Amino acid sequence: MTSSRPRVFSAMQPTADSLHLGNYLGALRQWVALQDTHDAIYSVVDLHALTVAPEPEALRRRSRVTAAQYLAAGVDPERSLLFLQSHVPEHAELAWLLSCLTGFGEASRMTQFKDKSARVGAEATNVGLFTYPVLMAADILLYNTDLVPVGEDQKQHLELSRNLAQRLNSRYATEDSPLVTVPEPYIVKETAKIYDLADPGSKMSKSGHPSGLIELLDDPKTVATRIKSAVTDADTVIAFDPVNKPGVSNLLSIHSALSGVPVEQLVADFDGKMYGHLKVAVVEVVENALGPVRERVTELLARPEELDEILADGAGKARAIARTTLARVYDAVGLVPAR
Ligand code: TYM
Repeated sequence: MTSSRPRVFSAMQPTADSLHLGNYLGALRQWVALQDTHDAIYSVVDLHALTVAPEPEALRRRSRVTAAQYLAAGVDPERSLLFLQSHVPEHAELAWLLSCLTGFGEASRMTQFKDKSARVGAEATNVGLFTYPVLMAADILLYNTDLVPVGEDQKQHLELSRNLAQRLNSRYATEDSPLVTVPEPYIVKETAKIYDLADPGSKMSKSGHPSGLIELLDDPKTVATRIKSAVTDADTVIAFDPVNKPGVSNLLSIHSALSGVPVEQLVADFDGKMYGHLKVAVVEVVENALGPVRERVTELLARPEELDEILADGAGKARAIARTTLARVYDAVGLVPAR
């Protein structure tokens, strides 16, 4: 890794047996492309996943499967660091410090927390879910990250990370020599929010409708069935109009993102055709993109020692960076260095 290049950091939670198309288009594909221009660090945030109380065996399996999907999609361990968050204890340590800089009201305003806690009720909500965005800020600030490629749903969390970085710097550092870098979000408009196929008013999400989800590791038949049953509308015109035709527009966005054909061109190509034609074409581009990823994941999971080796190597290198940042921040806030 060359230190002259700007740094990119991002992560996903290992909370499902497969990533979905929203994760892939909104984030993972950007991660792969950014390796060409940035120092890249990518993590599987297993500590974040504890907020939903997973079965231990499922968490272990999903952590490895998530890492395998990063690699299969093109994250290159020769150029990027890839590690499990719990292997770098500095994340939890910096999170504590940052939680002491975060206002209770500020954390209470996070819409994702409000939505999730409303779904399960206050009694079933845990404190980890509440402080989750602070741990996310720690993930980012530990690596002096310049850019964070994510989907639109992470925008507010990133705003908190930026505020916390600015607060750390203004309280404990000088303008000429800041303690941490203030990160910028990197959100690609066209794929910032991929919608649920069965409910195109909501984002595609692992907690949404199973029939509205395209999972990277689903078998091709399931993927095809879901795309063919995607909700469209009573009209028959193929046009890009996210407000009035959310289902059709979502299919066009997915096709365009994967095929590279601009949406306007697709609309012209499908002029006079039926929704069924568009769906068949989407099935094909999705399979062309996901088929090779699925195969690579199977290969990687067949050699778990190799995968664990990549993760151990990434954790060692990430930790060296994280340790330096944490020591600098601890010192700046007045903690006496351990001898
Ligand atoms: P997570 O695990 O929910 O999602 C991983 C990434 O996928 C993006 N995404 C989507 N993009 C477009 N359309 C969708 N329907 C869609 N659904 C999900 C998310 O925006 C995200 O980029 N808090 C984070 C994980 C995290 C993190 C970090 C991210 C922890 N620490 C530090 C960046 C930097 C999360 O829960 O993402």
